[in-house]
Amino acid sequence: MKCRVCREPAVIDVRRQNANYCVAHFFRMCRDQVAKAVEQFGMIAPGERVLVAVSGGKDSLAVWDLLVDAGYDADGLYLGLGIGDYSDESGAYVRRYAKARGLTLTEVDLPDDYGYDIQTGSRAARRAPCSACGLSKRHLFDKAAIDGGYDVVVTGHNLDDEAAVLFGNVLRWQTGYLGRQLPVLPARHGFPRKVKPLVRLSERETAAYCVLKGIDYIVDECPMAKGNRHLGYKEALNAIEATSPGTKFDFYFGFLARASAAFQAEAEAEQEGLRPCRSCGAPTPGEICAFCRLVERAGGTLPPGEEPPAAGAVPVTLGARLPSPDAVSP
Ligand code: AMP
Ligand code: FES
Ligand code: ZN
Ligand code: ZN
Repeated sequence: MKCRVCREPAVIDVRRQNANYCVAHFFRMCRDQVAKAVEQFGMIAPGERVLVAVSGGKDSLAVWDLLVDAGYDADGLYLGLGIGDYSDESGAYVRRYAKARGLTLTEVDLPDDYGYDIQTGSRAARRAPCSACGLSKRHLFDKAAIDGGYDVVVTGHNLDDEAAVLFGNVLRWQTGYLGRQLPVLPARHGFPRKVKPLVRLSERETAAYCVLKGIDYIVDECPMAKGNRHLGYKEALNAIEATSPGTKFDFYFGFLARASAAFQAEAEAEQEGLRPCRSCGAPTPGEICAFCRLVERAGGTLPPGEEPPAAGAVPVTLGARLPSPDAVSP
């Protein structure tokens, strides 16, 4: 097996590209794919302040590493979700990486700062853990970005993640979600842009990137996610990809090029019915957004400045902040 570029011995094959790479050229391929995604979708402009949401897993550590190496001004954000040993360990991986590279890391802790954890929140809100978790994460990513004055929030979603979410949304024809399933969600009403620079790289490639670069990451999946639908979709797509390399890429990028626009009017219309939460300003179809209701039901507390206003009080945050809506695809 020889490297496609230099003909030296290769360490990895990338079947969808019908190519093998040595270490140096594999790194170059990863950098090129991130640069291409950033450029293709206008993800990050030069000089912008970037907040990378880092979970301690391979994808988010890889994207942070790749963006810092590419010269972006990229700080990290870790959310402690209160998922027992899993959260303790994942936080430790993020802190070790940040320290080793001398990078700035902000931390928010759900139990300490908001008085609940994912399990309590999920039970109280009668939502699946991953749904309570996704809701909390979206809210807190937005808030941390605003508080820190960042222009853009980066997540580590990769090609496998996006293809699996697309697959799930197509299976149920969730057309509103399909209209919002983009690698870039534009900034709106004071909330930061959200981007996914790894959409051109697969999970196997981000794992290989970390291993070859010597980046330690938490290998275990979240214990709450075991057996969820999303993992089933990934397995189904992997089975197809094994016999037909490139299918995942064509599925996702074909959707973006040829189908996504057809669903955008519906997604926009859903956004129009939203108004700012009376407590935190996040867009919601009701008075109080799903995050604030979740915190309340879970017996948690919103930090000072975020408490729900007294009944009849005039909402002060109207129109000031509008992050991703309550119902977004996982
Ligand atoms: P997941 O929803 O767990 O697949 O994670 C998707 C992306 O969200 C990751 O690649 C990270 O960018 C971000 N993320 C997930 N969990 C955390 C966390 N605890 N703290 C910060 N970012 C996270
Ligand atoms: Fe959110 Fe596991 S990381 S439920
Ligand atoms: Zn080479
Ligand atoms: Zn709210």
